[in-house]
Amino acid sequence: MIFPDEFMWGAATAAYQIEGAWNEDGKGESIWDRFAHTPGNIHRGDSGDVACDHYHRWLEDIQLMKALGLKTYRLSISWTRVQPSGRGVVNLPGLDFYDHLVDSLLEAEIVPMITLFHWDLPQALQDEGGFASRATAETFVGYADLVTRRLGDRVKYWVTHNEPSVFAFIGHAFGRHAPGLTQPDLALRVAHHLLLSHGWSVPVIRENSSGAQIGIALNINFSQPASASIHDYHAWQYGYGIWTRWFLDPLYGRQYPTDLIDYAIQKGYLPPEGPVFVEDGDLATIATQTDFLGVNYYTRQIARDQEVPPDKNLPPSVFQLPKNDNNWQEMEDWEVYPDGLFNVLTWLYLEYQPPILYITENGASWSDGPDEIGRVKDNRRVNFLKQHFAAAHRAIQIGVPLKGYYVWSLMDNLEWGYGFTQRFGLIWVDFNTQRRLLKDSALWYRRVISENGIPELSA
Ligand code: FCB
Repeated sequence: MIFPDEFMWGAATAAYQIEGAWNEDGKGESIWDRFAHTPGNIHRGDSGDVACDHYHRWLEDIQLMKALGLKTYRLSISWTRVQPSGRGVVNLPGLDFYDHLVDSLLEAEIVPMITLFHWDLPQALQDEGGFASRATAETFVGYADLVTRRLGDRVKYWVTHNEPSVFAFIGHAFGRHAPGLTQPDLALRVAHHLLLSHGWSVPVIRENSSGAQIGIALNINFSQPASASIHDYHAWQYGYGIWTRWFLDPLYGRQYPTDLIDYAIQKGYLPPEGPVFVEDGDLATIATQTDFLGVNYYTRQIARDQEVPPDKNLPPSVFQLPKNDNNWQEMEDWEVYPDGLFNVLTWLYLEYQPPILYITENGASWSDGPDEIGRVKDNRRVNFLKQHFAAAHRAIQIGVPLKGYYVWSLMDNLEWGYGFTQRFGLIWVDFNTQRRLLKDSALWYRRVISENGIPELSA
């Protein structure tokens, strides 16, 4: 099972999850700093204050990436490290940090892909309303300009936003991510401003980074109705749609989906008048042509209408339901469902025709640690990756222009509200000593990369 030449094998991280050094060298406070420092928000009181201490250990971490043979590495920029209050004053040591990181990656022949916004908004901007305020969308463009002017000569892959739906809903309606708000009426307003800031920044990035590929990364899991009941079908249509089509449709030149507008009004995500925050020209801006779509894929979610009792009006579920069929189940219980990756890739390509797709995240949380001799036998992760690589390969075989694959994550890190309990890494991290060890999955991935194919299955 051989992949196309030049296939971009990579791994991904995000600034807040690995960097630490939360207040060093002039870095400002982000909403994740504030959220983590507020008791009760993160499991066991963990925080990203130190995390993987990548800010101090980045050279060692690049050596590990080299040992893995990575062709590419997806990282995100901490906005407050380069602009402590989100606009205005620039923090040069922060920009220098990313400058050196990029140079060293290139020296190691690892192609950087940079995400501009992976959720760590400057607290100063949140104090002015955050992404619920249209002004923040404008401010984001200034930040995008600053970063791409400095790095755009060398970095040729840019992701504007990571998972706008997660930031919008989990951060503003469910309160489980920063900024920790439980105001459903803010979620789609925030989402709109994220998309708008994406559209506005694309031409700016293009100007600063000639020949670059620019895209956005959406979380697109696979979803199915639990049964043939019309109730479950609607639970799927709306519940899945609001996380996916609500974002994809405007990005690819359609309106916000009308079936979802009614649903969003019912759920209190929109006022009775509908999406009042949309101004003239916004949809054209959001539909600005991009070069690729980034897909973060993890699992399958079964949609069951919770309001209609299953034993009464609904046929039995046609699927084995995962232990917890909501969006916030324990990550170790996420169903392993590689066919979903194939389905999602083919659906996205056929429906929206992005010129190129990258899997910008895929991985699994299993906590296997080192044995007495320091070996981490994470066979489950090897199997997980093997099956998902095969699903991606099948998609490529039938014509989906998938050009790269970023495993989430390069190393164990701070898993947002779960703290350090969830280990997604190819590299094991001891959070007390900062010792790093390549897990078995990392050693296996090294072979995949060097053979450009799946070892046991290739000739
Ligand atoms: C995604 C996030 C990423 C990581 C994985 C497990 O939603 O983009 O930062 O937390 O989930």
